[in-house]
Amino acid sequence: MNKEIIVSPSILSGDFANMEKSALNVKEWGGDWIHCDVMDGVYVTNITFGMPMVAALKKVTDLPLDVHLMIDKPEKYATRFVDAGAYGVTFHPEASDRPSEVLKEIKARGAKAGIAFNPDVAIEDYEYLFPECDIIVVMTVYAGYGGQKLIESCLDRVAYIKRKLTEKNSDALIEVDGGVTEDNCAKVAEAGADIIVAGSAVFRSDDPRRTVNKIKGVTK
Ligand code: DX5
Ligand code: ZN
Repeated sequence: MNKEIIVSPSILSGDFANMEKSALNVKEWGGDWIHCDVMDGVYVTNITFGMPMVAALKKVTDLPLDVHLMIDKPEKYATRFVDAGAYGVTFHPEASDRPSEVLKEIKARGAKAGIAFNPDVAIEDYEYLFPECDIIVVMTVYAGYGGQKLIESCLDRVAYIKRKLTEKNSDALIEVDGGVTEDNCAKVAEAGADIIVAGSAVFRSDDPRRTVNKIKGVTK
């Protein structure tokens, strides 16, 4: 493994009373992107934040904002997140009536677009969308909360998608989201991740800079 991983710390584990500080911390710790977990209380039980938070973060950081929509009917809001300053917008395809169009709309508005797979969603059902995707997110926990344990069997799904993309000569990036730690990040990279999300592992680390570096592969 000599390619460097893009690390996208999730602001979900940041300080909701001081998101500016959390965003500045991510930069200081060496994070590459900031992962923004949007939950609507419908697609998932939890509720987090919406476009105003993304717009507010955009004002205080130059890091790319990696927006992960865990919402029902993402077609209603996807482009509004682009307008708010998202670098990329990913959504769960089974939550949408027209995922292909949503991907096109996000890209037409000027952002990277992608789909995210919960562990129980059949990848084959949505492979037809791969040519439209800049990013494919493989969830290694069930979407809904930070701080869960990585489901190891989902790493086979990462390897499967990696094979499919290589076969199709696609340069889409694979993002792995959920339960990644200093201890399991090597396996995640090995499976084929290009981007790794880490929320609690970074924000609750005794040395977040070390954690980010470890995930990047700098200090393996
Ligand atoms: C889960 C979210 C993840 C999560 C990552 O619903 O999509 O992005 O916040 O947090 P950790 O790294 O703590 O699992
Ligand atoms: Zn996420």
